[in-house]
Amino acid sequence: MTDLDQLERRFGEDIDAASDEAALEAVRLSALGKKGEISELLKGLGKMSPDERRDQGPRLNGLRDRVQARLTEKRDALAEAAISARLAAERLDVTLPLRSSPLSRGRVHPISQVVDEITAIFADMGFSIAEGPDIETDHYNFTALNFPEGHPAREMHDTFFLQAPEGGERRLLRTHTSPVQIRTMEAQRPPIRIVIPGKTYRQDSDATHTPMFHQVEGLVIDKSANIANMKWVLTEFCKAFFEVPSLRMRFRPSFFPFTEPSMEVDIQCDRSGSEVRFGEGTDWMEILGCGMVHPNVLRGVGLDPDEYQGFAWGMGIDRIAMLKYGMPDLRAFFDADSRWIEHYGFRPLDLPTLFGGLSS
Ligand code: DAH
Repeated sequence: MTDLDQLERRFGEDIDAASDEAALEAVRLSALGKKGEISELLKGLGKMSPDERRDQGPRLNGLRDRVQARLTEKRDALAEAAISARLAAERLDVTLPLRSSPLSRGRVHPISQVVDEITAIFADMGFSIAEGPDIETDHYNFTALNFPEGHPAREMHDTFFLQAPEGGERRLLRTHTSPVQIRTMEAQRPPIRIVIPGKTYRQDSDATHTPMFHQVEGLVIDKSANIANMKWVLTEFCKAFFEVPSLRMRFRPSFFPFTEPSMEVDIQCDRSGSEVRFGEGTDWMEILGCGMVHPNVLRGVGLDPDEYQGFAWGMGIDRIAMLKYGMPDLRAFFDADSRWIEHYGFRPLDLPTLFGGLSS
């Protein structure tokens, strides 16, 4: 076997062994690159005698052409294999059903949705949103709200107390959102117009009570805010929230330590059918407490009750959500059962707005 035959055989084996384009390119360079073995041999032709060249020329050119052809063949085969592998890997079964996106599958909890509805209504009336901590001090939850020491109203709230740190003050889970009234009045000067949605806690559990529940509080403080303003705000809110054109409301005298006078508010409803309807019928349902902010509360945060006055209200969110959306058992709200949220939850992009319709 001549040297050239051996060379051809070796390049043939190298080409066969090349498993990707980079390896094949290395073989090409070693054979036909500028410094490749075959190129070097071809360069030698110039220095040969005419006789030698006539003999070697065709042999070397033949060798170069055959190696070149095998390289091309192998490159095409590698490219073909790469495409086939990619097609196999990226193969799609177009007959499979669509997988829904998280955005269309996720659901907003009815409580979150109702909080958004409530804040949309009050924001439209010029209120801002305020928030405060769930873990409170006795001072903010009771004392600053004019609950006297040892007053039975403190017991009525069935408070969850936290263990007091050594030598420190006992803290508690807030029993209502009212402490945020105090925190806000301490932090900003009137005029104040806020609503306070949030979690609240009491030791209570049955079909209409859970130990954690939600309230929304309202507070208006300026130099002239009065009961007529309060009645208008609350009436407009109820009409917008229950999405009825008119609705009768009944303000009954009541007692809360932090308001004077205090009232409980009932709204007109019809319970004769299978579901409660608001703005119709001759029945009443209590939905909130309200009143004029007590002078002691104003004085406590450094406001002069002869200069400033205002009104406040507090309302449970869970029950009005149940009533509005026909959910029978409050405890199911917090069971985290995906079938329940699938049924009663809201689509993430169903944002409640006054112009778009709250719940439609
Ligand atoms: N904090 C009261 C409660 O949880 C509700 C309430 C009543 C809040 C009257 C108020 C109010 O702001 O004026 O029972």
